[in-house]
Amino acid sequence: MLKDKNIVLGVSGGIAVYKSVDLVSRLKKQGANVDVIMTEAATKFVTPLTFQTLSLNPVYIDMFGEPKNYDVEHISLAERADLFVIAPATANIIGKIATGIADNLLTTTVMATKSKVIFAPAMNTNMYLNPIVQKNISYLKELGYEFIDPGTGMLACQTYGPGRMAEPVDILQYILDSFYNKDLRDKKIIVTAGPTIEPIDPVRYITNHSSGKMGYRIAEESAKRGAETILISGPTHMEPPNNVKLIKVNTTKEMFNVVEKYFSDCDVLIKAAAPSDYRPKNVSETKIKKKATKKDELNIEFIRNPDIAAHFGKIKGDKIIVGFAAETNNLLKYAEKKLKDKNFDFIVANDVSKTGAGFKSDTNIVTIIENEGKFKEYPIMDKSQVAKIILDKIVSLLDAKAR
Ligand code: PMT
Repeated sequence: MLKDKNIVLGVSGGIAVYKSVDLVSRLKKQGANVDVIMTEAATKFVTPLTFQTLSLNPVYIDMFGEPKNYDVEHISLAERADLFVIAPATANIIGKIATGIADNLLTTTVMATKSKVIFAPAMNTNMYLNPIVQKNISYLKELGYEFIDPGTGMLACQTYGPGRMAEPVDILQYILDSFYNKDLRDKKIIVTAGPTIEPIDPVRYITNHSSGKMGYRIAEESAKRGAETILISGPTHMEPPNNVKLIKVNTTKEMFNVVEKYFSDCDVLIKAAAPSDYRPKNVSETKIKKKATKKDELNIEFIRNPDIAAHFGKIKGDKIIVGFAAETNNLLKYAEKKLKDKNFDFIVANDVSKTGAGFKSDTNIVTIIENEGKFKEYPIMDKSQVAKIILDKIVSLLDAKAR
């Protein structure tokens, strides 16, 4: 994933340096070339040899030391960087960079680079919350520097609170996301995900088996590709993806109302949710009690919920709407009908009775159907891969519209 990428890792002095050792190892496994610059203070925690051994490169520390190459090191490192990461970033290093101080190799190289710079702060909670540090962070953010927020927990100084450097796995993910093709930048995408639930009484409801996985993977991919992403989700156990505005709903009517709120402003609506088509006509205010009837039956009357996709399909104008069809038989026939009836640009049909497809699983088996009966069947693949295919298609449609 990071082949041919040059990452310059600035390491300043804090106990979290040990995590940066792990980060270097992870970056190398992704194929990156890693150049490490350490501050003098950082070398007190971990020896340069550790970073040198893992990065397979010399480690840079001293502005005026014996040169490792015959070029001006801070300039060549600055120019070589496809991405500059400072982890751990101490209050001191953040403060120096925010005020333009360039008094060691790390700060000088940051000053000279044109690449994106990402800070992973690590420090004592009181230091992190200190208004001076917070002001420096805000100022650097304003200038376009990026920050990976520290976690909250028990710190080495035995205080509890924010300040613990983000985990190497999360920093790596942030780095990988930074190199993502931002082909949906400036676009606004709404994704609906998960089931809806329709109450019968205060303790019971009807719903379906949707876990939200398909919709959440789409929202994740959309955000990674730079789209402003609004994820409207029924109840799920899913972790919200990064950089996504998550709005939680329960019922189909609630989902409809939230889509309505954001629709006029969006470019794309992706309807991966499985909203309940019906809801109980009357919701009992109290728990329905068992009755000793002769038939032992309980009849609940249902009425139709709004069809969100069909409603917005009618008024979509030049927006793109992508639908899903969850079927157990006659996949193509039913999906094609939904494509036309709901005015989708294309529909992602999945036979939810197949193993590895549809509800709950991490994989899906889909057929994408476009207008004029054009369709393509895909083999079983991860839902994140399906998400990529869907968003690739959306990018092509947006490009075609822009022409
Ligand atoms: O969430 P997972 O566990 O990962 O499962 C994924 C999934 C099976 C839910 C997903 O792949 C999927 O197929 N979603 C659509 C489920 C569905 O409701 O399909 P449908 O054929 O009943 O509806 C057709 C389309 O109309 C869908 O885009 C649906 O979101 C939309 N619809 C349906 C009913 C309704 N009242 N309003 C709608 O907008």
